[in-house]
Amino acid sequence: MASVMVLGTNGRLGRAAVLAFAAAGWTVTAQLRRAPRAALPPGVRLVEADALDLPALARAGRGVDVIVNALSPDYTRWATLLPPITAATLALARATGATLMLPGNVYNYGNRLPAVLQADTPFVASHPKAAQRIALEAALAEAALAHGAPGARSIVIRAGDFLGDSGTWLDLAMGKRLAQGKFVQMGPADLPHAWAWLPDLARVFVAVAERRGGLAPHASLNCAGITLTGAELQAAFEAALGRPLKRSAFPWPLLRLATPFSPMLRSLFEMRYLWQRPHRLDDAPLRALLGTLPATPLAEVVQHCLAGLTGLPGLPATPIRTETRRAS
Ligand SMILES: NC(=O)c1ccc[n+]([C@@H]2O[C@H](COP(=O)([O-])OP(=O)(O)OC[C@H]3O[C@@H](n4cnc5c(N)ncnc54)[C@H](OP(=O)(O)O)[C@@H]3O)[C@@H](O)[C@H]2O)c1
Repeated sequence: MASVMVLGTNGRLGRAAVLAFAAAGWTVTAQLRRAPRAALPPGVRLVEADALDLPALARAGRGVDVIVNALSPDYTRWATLLPPITAATLALARATGATLMLPGNVYNYGNRLPAVLQADTPFVASHPKAAQRIALEAALAEAALAHGAPGARSIVIRAGDFLGDSGTWLDLAMGKRLAQGKFVQMGPADLPHAWAWLPDLARVFVAVAERRGGLAPHASLNCAGITLTGAELQAAFEAALGRPLKRSAFPWPLLRLATPFSPMLRSLFEMRYLWQRPHRLDDAPLRALLGTLPATPLAEVVQHCLAGLTGLPGLPATPIRTETRRAS
């Protein structure tokens, strides 16, 4: 039976990956730093350790075939925290012989990213987080192709903004005023934006992991996920709620005023450009590899999202399946 170690099980992609690999019959070892934030499927083996604790993780990961690096350090401290985590996960991949999988993002394309992001679209280190992600992926590519020592094989699956858990743009901003009948637009409402529904993305990780033998030592695959304009996303919420919503603009000017006092707001403001430039991921190579991709219908995605946005009046009365049930 194939086995996977997921690093960052209490995170968004980490949790979705644990559920998806377990549902697909993999033996799952789940790394976390504290107790699971929600129940995990039976049979998942927990390893409580910091990602930098190589001896503990190498012991726990002995014999695993795949490691999913779903770690994400403090968003405001990537410059100092990402490099040691990258080095530790690569050392772990070398120690175990496992293929390392990483969820990539669109930051690598820089703040003048083109509308269609293809396999050969150049990376541009035009802002610090772009440079940090480019360096992270370069380290993976270099480690896979290293001569002399055994290389660490790796696969990057690049996706848009996550949907389907807390701490996303949807629950932090866009859906925050639904109870007042408002939908918050992060920028011009007619610009396509790349999203990734976490359960679908996690299933893509599983499907790619199952075909890893046919890939190059370092592979990078874009996953289109769901591309939607702000207006389309609002319309999907209106349809789910059965009533119109008033469009309201995200208060970027206020957030900008607060940036001198908050590293987090400063970091978020730096990413504003993603709401001012249309973009979608082209995933032709991924489709060629997998055939069809998991694609939960938008109406179902929105129902799940609504269930996660608590305290809202007028939610559909029918019970909404939970992510855990979907995966089992
Ligand atoms: N969020 C998005 O929209 C998005 C889109 C595309 C790609 N990605 C990429 O996907 C990856 C995962 O993102 P995410 O949003 O799922 O992350 P997340 O929800 O913020 O979770 C990150 C996890 O990493 C853990 N972690 C951080 N430092 C650690 C350390 N030193 N030792 C052990 N655990 C540590 C955290 O543990 P604790 O829970 O203990 O703090 C947390 O559970 C990142 O590379 C991110 O850039 C994210």
